[in-house]
Amino acid sequence: MSESCCPLPSPLSRREALRGAGATAAVAASATLGMRGVHADNPSSDVIKVGLIGAGGRGSGALSQTLSVPGSAVKLTAIADAFKGNIDRMLKTLGGEIKDLADKTDCPDERRYDGLDGYKRVIDACDLVILATPPGFRPSQFQRAVEAGKHVFMEKPVCVDSHGARLVLDAARKADERKLKVVVGLQRRYQTNYREALAKVRAGAIGEIVGGQVYWNGMGIWYRDREPGQTEMQYQVHNWYHFNWLSGDHICEQHVHNIDIANWFLDRLPVSAYGVGGRQNRVPNQSSEIYDHHAVNFTYPGGVRIASQCKQFPGGENHVEEHFQGTKGLLSLHPGHAVITDRDGNEVWKFSGPNPDPYQVEHDELHAAIRNDTPKNDAYYGATSSFSSVLGRLATYSGKTWNYDDAIKLDYRLMPENPTWETTPPVMPDDNGTYPLPMPATFRIRSVTTPVPS
Ligand SMILES: NC(=O)c1ccc[n+]([C@@H]2O[C@H](COP(=O)([O-])OP(=O)(O)OC[C@H]3O[C@@H](n4cnc5c(N)ncnc54)[C@H](O)[C@@H]3O)[C@@H](O)[C@H]2O)c1
Repeated sequence: MSESCCPLPSPLSRREALRGAGATAAVAASATLGMRGVHADNPSSDVIKVGLIGAGGRGSGALSQTLSVPGSAVKLTAIADAFKGNIDRMLKTLGGEIKDLADKTDCPDERRYDGLDGYKRVIDACDLVILATPPGFRPSQFQRAVEAGKHVFMEKPVCVDSHGARLVLDAARKADERKLKVVVGLQRRYQTNYREALAKVRAGAIGEIVGGQVYWNGMGIWYRDREPGQTEMQYQVHNWYHFNWLSGDHICEQHVHNIDIANWFLDRLPVSAYGVGGRQNRVPNQSSEIYDHHAVNFTYPGGVRIASQCKQFPGGENHVEEHFQGTKGLLSLHPGHAVITDRDGNEVWKFSGPNPDPYQVEHDELHAAIRNDTPKNDAYYGATSSFSSVLGRLATYSGKTWNYDDAIKLDYRLMPENPTWETTPPVMPDDNGTYPLPMPATFRIRSVTTPVPS
């Protein structure tokens, strides 16, 4: 990979990247501008035109939420999906199970795009774009949206490799320069129990955090069988969870939520990661390129360690939660729950009260930022937390310790440039239809621009 295709994000420091470098500049600039229209080409229009890229489960949910923001005039104007059937299915649910949103839809046939590059046309046709494809596509789609001057809601994770992390950080800075608003679907940051717990921690309720554990140990994940007539590329995009270049493995795709909480509560990025993992659940005819369990120790500045675990197989206990130990007390968190105890186990605080749906709050706050021109750019922490998850995956695949600052500079790129249905996917099955599973003994950093060893 050449520097020109993806410049390094310096001089952004680790701390700036964690918080959002441009926030202060954006506040200062917006104070002089005051209220402005929702889009630059027609400042008098009050209607936010929404484009959806990725009409699957989460795309449908995010669309429903953005169309439901109270008091916000909004219209769905364009949709893209890799597969036409998914667009048709999604539009059928408007006015049906999604809620009665048909009156907020103006998306005729000519603004419905299938294939892998329909996203460009959607971005051109809207003011606010929802990016809800498999995450491997996210960096280039985010970059394109920012270049086109569009506000963005994008799902997590926002990258699956070093190249993607740098693209997103670079585009994040450009979004600040243009005063674009960006929300990332790490919804715990929009959940009242997490926000109140964070305020307690910042006020010193558990003292200095000296260690913690974050878990996403669950039952399993879907597997989509090959459909008749699909090319290898179509099959992999259809069954995207099981391919690293598309999903980043579940430590990235799913566990990023909990790793993000560690970064947020510690207000730091990991220095390094070391871990083990594997795939114990091998279902015949369901070959997968991803692990089904990872266990990683993340070391943060000051030697603070966060133990992370994630699994996707049935049996045993399931835990999706975060815990932090401080010099004065302990904090336990999961969606809907937050408790602080002292070092003797006595409860000193417990979250109670309304805990509004964070998936809706994300869109309510995004629309408010667009309409009031107030700073909102989650892309920095979206990128650094997604890359922290990539760091964990590098550790489990290689069995080695990886340093964050070195790893983010690597020539490590899984997604081909401008893929089409004719592109050969970066990973291919062997004669038995089996995809190679990463193994510490043979793992090496590879970029799509690096020839695959024979
Ligand atoms: N925040 C959350 O709690 C949460 C929950 C679920 C999913 N997600 C995230 O949302 C994203 C989508 O997940 P999902 O569960 O909706 O998956 P999904 O498979 O249901 O939907 C993805 C859609 O994207 C389409 N697609 C694939 N490549 C495309 C491309 N290049 N251009 C346009 N469309 C393309 C697919 O055909 C599919 O319809 C993932 O990043 C996932 O991690 C977040």
